[in-house]
Amino acid sequence: MRHLLSITDLTVEELDELLSSATDIEQNPEAYAHRMEGKKLATLFFEPSTRTRLSFEAAMWELGGQVLGFAGASSSSASKGESVKDTVRTVSCYADIIAMRHPLEGAPWAAVQSTTVPVINAGDGGHYHPTQTLADLMTLKKEKGRLDHLKIGLCGDLKFGRTVHSLIEALIRYPGNEFVLISPQELRVPAGIINALKEAQAPYREAVSLEEEIGGLDALYMTRIQQERFFSVEEYLRLKDSYILDEEKMRLAPKDMIVMHPLPRVNEIDVKVDADPRACYFKQVMYGKIMRKALILKLMAETELPAKPGPVKITTGRHCKNPRCISSTEQGLEPLFYPVHQIMVQGVPTRIPTRYYCAYCEMEQV
Ligand code: NCD
Repeated sequence: MRHLLSITDLTVEELDELLSSATDIEQNPEAYAHRMEGKKLATLFFEPSTRTRLSFEAAMWELGGQVLGFAGASSSSASKGESVKDTVRTVSCYADIIAMRHPLEGAPWAAVQSTTVPVINAGDGGHYHPTQTLADLMTLKKEKGRLDHLKIGLCGDLKFGRTVHSLIEALIRYPGNEFVLISPQELRVPAGIINALKEAQAPYREAVSLEEEIGGLDALYMTRIQQERFFSVEEYLRLKDSYILDEEKMRLAPKDMIVMHPLPRVNEIDVKVDADPRACYFKQVMYGKIMRKALILKLMAETELPAKPGPVKITTGRHCKNPRCISSTEQGLEPLFYPVHQIMVQGVPTRIPTRYYCAYCEMEQV
């Protein structure tokens, strides 16, 4: 059985295959209109969503399948204290494939311990959002013509913005991409993603000023400050207006730079920018639905294949230190860790066995 929990679950060849399959779906939607007849997709959204849930549902309907699910933890038995594993085990009896979103990091990794159908991570806390990355890759491919040799500026909440983490993990696997990480000091990209950039030897730079960086970019990826992930209201209020992309800043940008945003937008892109032909965020929404159609077809076709081998996980007798990790609340979920992480030292992979990463949220244990 094949799941999509992290964008690295797909090889570069598979990403390219999904992109070409999406282009065919876009051009010949009627050829795919009955492919999922008799199949059901469950959308288990323990956290708010407009685009992701509805685009999964629209994708399944357009493939001839049907959908069931819930759109909030309060309308599910999670509100009665049910574990993610029990919910997913139950829904496996009703549906052929599951797309789930959860506020805790690593929740889909708990889900796959009890599912009997493919699981798609539709966002787990501030960790990952691989299907938004599929939408982002199709946007770059269609609007810039390539996924390599791009200078990408990612701007806003790079700490909690899960779409940023998955997008970086995808784009470092294509040659020649360069990253400008624009954020306030407090919202910089987490250490795990910086490690991934280093391991891939991808050029990156951390910056604070959008005005200073915008002139050299091929694509600018704006993000919302993730209010719901802050522990302190004061901190959110202080940082919420850190970046506002307006017509004045757009005048500093190259003529062929595209503006992306996973949406929802709050105020980080002035609505006047929507009329600029470089604004691509509503196109991203359409590409997202098409890529989800391609993904559902792929995972449903591969349900008979054995799972790909992953890194060895061990118990350490300790618990994960991340309070936002699923293992901090889920009953009966054994704390598991990757004992070794490879980092590159002067181009040579080096094993540092004293480091441990949680197998659910991937946070390094210090
Ligand atoms: C994003 C998400 O949920 O992470 N939205 C989306 O799925 N398109 C971005 C966000 O909420 O800011």
